[in-house]
Amino acid sequence: MCGIVGYVGKRDAQPLIISGLEKLEYRGYDSAGIAVLEADEVRTTRVEGKLAVLKQRLDVQTRNGSSPIGIGHTRWATHGRPSDDNAHPHRAGRVSLVHNGIIENYVALRTDLQKRGAVFTSETDTEIAAHLLNSFLEAGEDPFQALKDACAELIGSFAFLAFDSQHTDRLLVAKNATPLIIGQGKDEMFVASDIPAVLEHTRDIIILEDGDVAEVRVDAIVIESAAGPVVRESQKITWDPVTAQKGGYKHFMLKEIHEQGPVVAETIRGRLDMEQQCVAIPEIGLSLDQLNQIERVVMVACGTAWHACLVAKFYFEQLTGIACEVDYASEFRYRKPVLTDNTLVIVVSQSGETADTLAALELANESSHTLAICNVLGSSIARKAHNVVYTYAGPEISVASTKAFTTQLTLLHLLAVHIGVVRGVLSSQLQSELVKQIIHLPSALDEALQIESGVRAAAKHFSRAEGFLFISRGICYPIALEGALKLKEISYIHAEGYPAGELKHGPIALIDEHMPVIALVQNSDIYHKTVSNLKEVESRGGQLVIVTDQAPDQEMRDLATVVIRVPHISEVLSPILFSIPVQLFAYYVAVFNGTDVDQPRNLAKSVTVE
Ligand code: M6R
Repeated sequence: MCGIVGYVGKRDAQPLIISGLEKLEYRGYDSAGIAVLEADEVRTTRVEGKLAVLKQRLDVQTRNGSSPIGIGHTRWATHGRPSDDNAHPHRAGRVSLVHNGIIENYVALRTDLQKRGAVFTSETDTEIAAHLLNSFLEAGEDPFQALKDACAELIGSFAFLAFDSQHTDRLLVAKNATPLIIGQGKDEMFVASDIPAVLEHTRDIIILEDGDVAEVRVDAIVIESAAGPVVRESQKITWDPVTAQKGGYKHFMLKEIHEQGPVVAETIRGRLDMEQQCVAIPEIGLSLDQLNQIERVVMVACGTAWHACLVAKFYFEQLTGIACEVDYASEFRYRKPVLTDNTLVIVVSQSGETADTLAALELANESSHTLAICNVLGSSIARKAHNVVYTYAGPEISVASTKAFTTQLTLLHLLAVHIGVVRGVLSSQLQSELVKQIIHLPSALDEALQIESGVRAAAKHFSRAEGFLFISRGICYPIALEGALKLKEISYIHAEGYPAGELKHGPIALIDEHMPVIALVQNSDIYHKTVSNLKEVESRGGQLVIVTDQAPDQEMRDLATVVIRVPHISEVLSPILFSIPVQLFAYYVAVFNGTDVDQPRNLAKSVTVE
């Protein structure tokens, strides 16, 4: 995720672009840059660091008058660590270009362009798009045709914004699988990744569709889809600026819950070979021999990431046949864990800066191969692990982790499939079955979000309860733990996650009509065992919220105060879908209790101290 802003018009582009980027910094903030036309020259300024660093750099520059056109970018790195050279805009010949997304076929394109004489100065996938566009312009094509021809060669997700130094009256725009809007002003046009960037200047917004390319001039917008010229109607936006930054949602947490389908799709993208129906994760960095020699997987993390590891233990045991242990980083780092060179230690961290996880990684680095699953490119954990595989959740602003969790689960599942195949535990036929299910996951997540109003009603009903139990069994048991953690951290109500079969060994003593029980009941071999546990709750006066992925029968309806149905998916992927109701439940209980949802008391997004 990155933020893009462009301007063409009668005012000075530079301050307008910078103020637009300020509204988009939530989309990424590891580097920033701007390219503007000034006295017929393109001036590009790029820096590693936040927008404030770019502003300081611009403040000391001498300007050559006002800029009628320009493009800017705030980056959340995916290919290439944060640095001045990797910051956007990228320049190739006549082209200045910014990008949000991932170009999957960049290696092949880069090789081809290099053969044709292109010289690359960054590690990014973006720079190839600038060279590609330039090559069509240099071949004599007009800018719009060059843009269309360049896009036709790209595979992946992209939102591009560019201009040609020989046609400085127009912005060139392309959108595929990442958002891009056009803001129509009087004698001026804006292009941006998101509405807040332009809201101060115009409320007339065109939302581009996937596959659209556009040429944007001060007085005209031409848009084409794959089928030819199209008209995209402008909409009048009535949101206030703060609501707009949250995409119209009341809190970042709710926005991030709703982003899970697209970011899971982004995390899957590029890790599946659709032709071969197989998973490929070269970033693991282990040879086939090394993968075959692994005798044990040890997973280490904190908080929500630790819950992802608990689910992944099922993935590794079922799909790779390798023994797997999970440890809290804060415990692991002070034990003397037995680690050998045939142990693979996987550390999982959204921020990549959690102090305990970092210390555990440093300990593991001494004797084992280490692999980080991380969301922030270039973070301490990503740099210190022997290898790193990134989730592509984009910046997670809310302290309560949601989309980072489901992307971690998705990636850990892909990792286990990959290792299972390499080790001969999974047949290629089974792999192809699993790939089909994974492809379906993003749309299943979108479908799961349709339960929101039902969950909201349940949360309202129980919002005054003083404590909750979350129960489940098997692969969904860690989601019960995650549900309890989410509820505790944002609503300040005590909650416990428990394996349903363990209730009778103690916690059942807590059950009465004041202790609601949220039961995650999965359609699996142990379904009837879980239902027996629910009867134990009901017969003690407990009130049950049953979350299930199967059509509720009469028995289930009789037991429950509320039944919430999530879509059915394969058993291994179901924890990802069961995450949605527990996140929404915690969110709405917090909202009904009036707590500070995005910044709950006593907590920080990144725990960089012990
Ligand atoms: O950045 P990390 O994934 O390493 O963070 C680990 C935990 O601090 C984090 O998951 C925390 O538990 C969240 N606030 C939970 O929502």
